[in-house]
Amino acid sequence: MKIKKKLVSRSGRFDGEPGQDVAAFSESVSFDWRLWRQDILGSIAHAGMLARIGVLNATEHEAIISGLERIGTEIDRGQFEWKKELEDVHMNIEAALTARVPAGAKLHTARSRNDQVALDMRMWVRDEILALTHELHDLQRALVELGQNHSDVIIPGYTHLQRAQPVFFAHHLLAYVEMLDRDLGRFHDAFARTNVCPLGSGAIAGSTLNLDRAYVAEQLGFVDEKGSAQLTQNSMDAVSDRDFVIEFCASSALLAVHLSRLSEDVILWASAEFQFIKIADAYTTGSSLMPQKKNPDIAELTRGKSGRVIGNLMALLTLLKGLPMTYNRDLQEDKERIFDTADTVRACVRLMAAMMRHTVPVSDNCLRAASDPSLLATDLADYLVRQGLPFRHAHHAVGLAVALAEKSGKSLDQLTIKEYQSIEKLFGPDVLEIFNLKKAMTLRKMTGAPSPTEVKKQLQRWLKRLKSSS
Ligand code: ARG
Repeated sequence: MKIKKKLVSRSGRFDGEPGQDVAAFSESVSFDWRLWRQDILGSIAHAGMLARIGVLNATEHEAIISGLERIGTEIDRGQFEWKKELEDVHMNIEAALTARVPAGAKLHTARSRNDQVALDMRMWVRDEILALTHELHDLQRALVELGQNHSDVIIPGYTHLQRAQPVFFAHHLLAYVEMLDRDLGRFHDAFARTNVCPLGSGAIAGSTLNLDRAYVAEQLGFVDEKGSAQLTQNSMDAVSDRDFVIEFCASSALLAVHLSRLSEDVILWASAEFQFIKIADAYTTGSSLMPQKKNPDIAELTRGKSGRVIGNLMALLTLLKGLPMTYNRDLQEDKERIFDTADTVRACVRLMAAMMRHTVPVSDNCLRAASDPSLLATDLADYLVRQGLPFRHAHHAVGLAVALAEKSGKSLDQLTIKEYQSIEKLFGPDVLEIFNLKKAMTLRKMTGAPSPTEVKKQLQRWLKRLKSSS
């Protein structure tokens, strides 16, 4: 029998090559080429381990390493020729290596593409989480700085999209900083579960060769805080597990939802109805027809793109749910979903940070809206509570005041003390002082509430925290 030198997974067993349509349908190199760095690093570590256990001699080992490094340089410079007929990134790199370095044919010893792709993906997700973490901190910083630069701006806070109570603009922005902090926590948790080395699991059942899995894991940084190797503990689970992909996409979906909500606030605030903020022209577009338009496209696109990030998560959950153990080719479908998710959220986070750095509040408009005395109706009820009235009764009394004001075409601060006292005797001569907005803000001084001192404290806390994470 003629032994084909060509490196394809079909070698030996198969007659002839797959048809073009089959090859085109099943190739993944057109998108998984993005795993090349991880693939090469993984192969270098694997080769090191093969040398340690005597499968490669020193010359072979060196030749493989320098061959892989050369391929890496070529890919980086855009000089590497990717071949679709070689299916995926793994076979492209291995084939190129073997064509140049005969010992390359030993590299795949005790390794399957099943544990290889699981390894590459874990390394890719780790890298992506670190990069995204950086960008998320930057967005948090942009929000905190915007709040800090305009720390005296007051806006109405909303519930049901109805004006509710006055808050500092900074307090509203800090709400998103908190959300992003939880996102960061989720990515951090996901990182720990991703940072476990599957190499050595082989196709499904490990290897009969005496591999040093811990060595590979240590070389590739799959270690805990104490530096001990983190190894997958079940070879079947290891080759079929894509939980870490789903966790990344789930954390990203929630992040995308947060960005979408922020976008919605920005869009509302920038509208003629609100006019609370001005976004720099560079982050808006005009209309091809209506000359007066200035559209908040970056925010709209960020809101819109959350749809595909959520969709990617659904696609992955659906992809996994019916798979029998262990590796199935279906799993190749994970890549475009996670790549798209990662690219999308990263771009959204980055653009959102840039846009927030080019956005300013229009403080007069904010103050005008926040000075609506009815926003302090709850303060009025609290006033009565301080006089000893049960809150429910106080709520009712203030409700009557609101109705009276409405009927007489006045605002709450225009009712007379007499009118207040006709509703409830406990309203004293100082009742109208409630409508001093500045003073009202100082009263909300418990942790998490928007008194000027508390908001400043929070801004300082975040500035300090973000400084240490930059
Ligand atoms: N391209 C494949 C993937 O992304 C690599 C693993 C292929 N393994 C196999 N046994 N066909 O999942």
